[in-house]
Amino acid sequence: MGKTMMGHAVISTEGLSKRFGNRVAVDSLTVAVGAGEIVGLLGPNGAGKTTTLRMLAGIIAPSAGHAVVDGRDPASEPENVHESVGFLTESPGFYERLSAERNLAYFAAFYEGIDAKAAAARELARLGLADRARDKVGTFSKGMKQRLALARVLLHEPRILFLDEPTAGLDPEAARNLRELIVSLKKDGCTILLSTHNLSEAEELSDRIAVFRTRLVAIDTPRALRESQFERRLRVRLDGGTETCLAALRGEPYVRDAHEEEDGVLTMLLSDPDRDRPRLVARIVQAGGQVLEVREDERPLEDVYLSLVREEEA
Ligand SMILES: Nc1ncnc2c1ncn2[C@@H]1O[C@H](COP(=O)(O)OP(=O)(O)OP(=O)(O)O)[C@@H](O)[C@H]1O
Ligand SMILES: [Mg+2]
Repeated sequence: MGKTMMGHAVISTEGLSKRFGNRVAVDSLTVAVGAGEIVGLLGPNGAGKTTTLRMLAGIIAPSAGHAVVDGRDPASEPENVHESVGFLTESPGFYERLSAERNLAYFAAFYEGIDAKAAAARELARLGLADRARDKVGTFSKGMKQRLALARVLLHEPRILFLDEPTAGLDPEAARNLRELIVSLKKDGCTILLSTHNLSEAEELSDRIAVFRTRLVAIDTPRALRESQFERRLRVRLDGGTETCLAALRGEPYVRDAHEEEDGVLTMLLSDPDRDRPRLVARIVQAGGQVLEVREDERPLEDVYLSLVREEEA
């Protein structure tokens, strides 16, 4: 269990595995997700993300191992798991000739104790589709169908959400709205597994990121994953005095490496970037450097992801 896990585990798995014929899709996944956590699932096509979500939602049975979701085993109690989970699938189906509101009211009626019409209206409004409520789903654009699919998943106000590529195919504004919705669902206490190929989205939303490649390659905060693959470098942009600064810095014991990356920009490896940064800046100023900017040269999550996946491949 990671240090950032909040509360008790709402989802946990032990040795969860799935094979299709003799192809292993998910190999012995052991993981725990805390209440209110968003965990981003990353991995190449065919890595087993969707298969994992389908096992957790009780749609397919594991070949080995087991899972506990909201205190229940999805393999033996799928109906009970369906009550607490909302699963946005890769290709949700709708009745194309029925209106959006009829579709939602139809699916809402599967849940006991909810007012189907009211739930449909509430979710259409939440997803910005109220003005299209009476239109046939067959006339909806791809992004509108995607939003309708999310509306359908929220009908029974589940505390656990499995979102399989929720923003795929959405325009930038609709994708941002959906990310904001995900953040507000988290604020309401939802626990969310989010499969995505959008790495900046994963980084923005996820408390922890799980990298899959049939096996779980790594799971941690974006920052910890970054630091596991790349050393932290500082970039200092100067308005003159680069040569004298470089000479001065190379004499400092806490500077492990310093070089001029581009004209007027120094890149440095420090023994301890947080501890050493103030004295580094002081030394640069003392050496006559005109400091324009000091910042951490943060590697994009894409580099971190590719490094992890390639490491696993090797
Ligand atoms: N019903 C099935 N029958 C046979 N093989 C399957 C089935 N479902 C998935 N697989 C196989 O399991 C592996 C994992 O597939 P899965 O859909 O879980 O990947 P994914 O990580 O979701 O990929 P993507 O990013 O493309 O959505 C793949 O090799 C796939 O071909
Ligand atoms: Mg998938």
